[in-house]
Amino acid sequence: MSEDLESSDPTQPKASFGFARVGEDRKQGLVNEVFARVARRYDLMNDLMSGGLHRLWKNDLVSWLAPWKSVVPYALLDVAGGTGDVALRVVEASGPGARAVICDISAEMMEVGRARAEGVGERLSFVRGNAEVLPFADRNFDAYTIAFGMRNLTHLEAALREAFRVLKPGGRFLCLEFSSVEVPLLDTLYDAYSLNAIPALGQLVAGDSTSYRYLVESIRRFPDQKNFMRLIENAGFERVRYRNLTGGIAAVHSAWRL
Ligand SMILES: C[S@@+](CC[C@H](N)C(=O)[O-])C[C@H]1O[C@@H](n2cnc3c(N)ncnc32)[C@H](O)[C@@H]1O
Repeated sequence: MSEDLESSDPTQPKASFGFARVGEDRKQGLVNEVFARVARRYDLMNDLMSGGLHRLWKNDLVSWLAPWKSVVPYALLDVAGGTGDVALRVVEASGPGARAVICDISAEMMEVGRARAEGVGERLSFVRGNAEVLPFADRNFDAYTIAFGMRNLTHLEAALREAFRVLKPGGRFLCLEFSSVEVPLLDTLYDAYSLNAIPALGQLVAGDSTSYRYLVESIRRFPDQKNFMRLIENAGFERVRYRNLTGGIAAVHSAWRL
């Protein structure tokens, strides 16, 4: 990471941007630059980097969510929803009463999502907004999902409080995120693959290794399964559980606003 990023105002609290420490006021701008750069190739790169595994992980999230299949209205908020991959899956797996709102801070990512969502009509909508200060009323949604979004945020606690606020009592929270590998040997192999091969793949396919290096490094800075559980509980959620996927390369955390 460059000198320039490391040397932000020393009086500012620090946030991690990949392996670098940056002023809290700078992190979101840097994250936004990454997603503006990767948006057009985002879905292709997801498939290449994970060998298609991200599809299975997202399907796992949707099956644990078990969205309603009836005509009864069901409102999903997919935060940091990007190109709409999770929201589209939820809508496909639900009944005719389901509607999904994709909320993301990146206009570029949502532009790709809007093109993908043609044909789904009014069941999907896109709202630009920050996960840490959501532009929605209290007690508005039956479910809140966030996939591979949490680790990009500056203030996890604020985002979790917002998730709790916008959910109806009885509402469900589900977060899919890269996590800590809990299988010996797989952790070493995964480290070697992700820290070396993924930036190289980013360079080859998208001409951009820096953005992909950030995406990999940010995984190492995210709390592990148990510590993230505690943060979710601290935001007021109950019945907090998690499931490891592929030995803990990723994990889904589930919780309820009761
Ligand atoms: C790795 S992508 C995940 C996209 C999608 N959920 C998926 O799984 O394919 C992370 C997304 O988080 C969004 N993001 C980053 N910071 C955000 C914030 N503060 N509020 C809302 N979205 C944010 C980015 O713009 C990007 O679209």
